[in-house]
Amino acid sequence: MKDSLFYLPVKIGNVELKNPFIVASGPTAKRIDQLKLAEKCGWSAASIKQTFNPLPYINYQPRYRWLKKEKVHVFTAEYRLNMEQGLRLVEEARKKCKELVVIANYSYVAGQDIDGWLDAARRFDSAGAQILELNLCCPNMSFNVDISERGKKEVRPSSGASMGQDEDAVRWVIENTRKVTRLPLIAKITPEGGRISEVSKVAFESGAAAVSSVANRLGIPAIDVWNYKKPIYNLQGQNTMACLSGPWIKPLALRDVFEIRKLVGPEPHINGTGGVASMEDAVQMMMCGADSIGVCTHTMIAGFGFLEKWMKSLRDYMKTMGFQTARDMRDLLLTEIKPASELTVWAGYAQVDPEKCSACGLCLEIGHCNAIVLTDASAEIDPGLCQGCSTCIDICPKKAIWMADKRI
Ligand SMILES: Cc1cc2nc3c(=O)[nH]c(=O)nc-3n(C[C@H](O)[C@H](O)[C@H](O)COP(=O)(O)O)c2cc1C
Ligand code: SF4
Ligand code: SF4
Repeated sequence: MKDSLFYLPVKIGNVELKNPFIVASGPTAKRIDQLKLAEKCGWSAASIKQTFNPLPYINYQPRYRWLKKEKVHVFTAEYRLNMEQGLRLVEEARKKCKELVVIANYSYVAGQDIDGWLDAARRFDSAGAQILELNLCCPNMSFNVDISERGKKEVRPSSGASMGQDEDAVRWVIENTRKVTRLPLIAKITPEGGRISEVSKVAFESGAAAVSSVANRLGIPAIDVWNYKKPIYNLQGQNTMACLSGPWIKPLALRDVFEIRKLVGPEPHINGTGGVASMEDAVQMMMCGADSIGVCTHTMIAGFGFLEKWMKSLRDYMKTMGFQTARDMRDLLLTEIKPASELTVWAGYAQVDPEKCSACGLCLEIGHCNAIVLTDASAEIDPGLCQGCSTCIDICPKKAIWMADKRI
């Protein structure tokens, strides 16, 4: 296996993953045929669809939209596995998948009663799960209801993303789980609340072997203003807050991984997830601090087979760049991304190539610019008025504008 295209090992606790690529918990990891196919296509691990112990008050048949143009996936209606289904899937996967590392993703609520969490940990451990992923991230539980009903007094038991923002609740669940299992624990935490790095630090101090970052963000998807009572989903009655994922969230996900790595230092394992849809996205994640890469939305849209292409292009990239291991790519952006206070900008101005300009006038519309005029034949830019922002380069359909760098 060591010579295999797919062998680029990383570790979570004492468990070796043959490569950094994990099927992130969601609809592509809820049946045994999916797990077998993922293994066949070279994935190192799969975090099975969330088990909620017991089934929660929000559980529907799935209704999804993949908004291609916006590159965002949205949903509210989704169902979780119940305990028996989750256990059966883990048991079957251990029997039928020889190489795939099986991660059990599960939730219960916060509060005094720890029994549901510990019961799930013990039972998944006995069923053969190799890693446990505590779901402290799902925005589609109490967090959805709290935000949608802001101002109402009713207090629901905190779960998912509400719980994962709370350092005390995270410490409580990880420390207690640590006492009943030796399996590596992943805390899948939430960016909601804006304290993802602080919460991650607490998770590691409490005994987590890894954190997964990020899960879905909660938002309001596009709505048809002429028919605003009708949601964009098929077969769904109401507008709702939606769980957002896919390429749209990648810049935020990169930031979260970067921020966590900066705070927790080089040792702990970070499973970078969120919007990864190409080999380059995965490398960016690693450069921002990720050890492994979780992919959900892209497997929903494109299956599992693309991993072979990713691994081939990753091998080529690593060879060209002189990287031997996944670790060699990790953290490279940690020192490259500078605080805004240390930014250097140098003088320059935009210029038009009259040969290419069609005099369409689009660049004249730029609201913050008074440097461009249109002559009979082409646009012209006054270097004295140009601030060098480069919006016109992005606007021009003819690629007729270029930037003169005054240092040269
Ligand atoms: C339809 C759907 C269902 C999901 N269900 C779960 C889940 O059960 N447990 C979990 O931890 N994350 C779940 N996620 C979150 C993903 O694992 C992942 O963290 C998130 O979607 C961001 O990654 P992506 O852009 O690659 O999808 C779900 C995501 C989607 C789109
Ligand atoms: S670079 Fe900015 S300021 Fe200069 S011409 Fe273009 S849009 Fe105007
Ligand atoms: S947008 Fe481009 S093509 Fe159109 S006028 Fe400006 S420079 Fe010329």
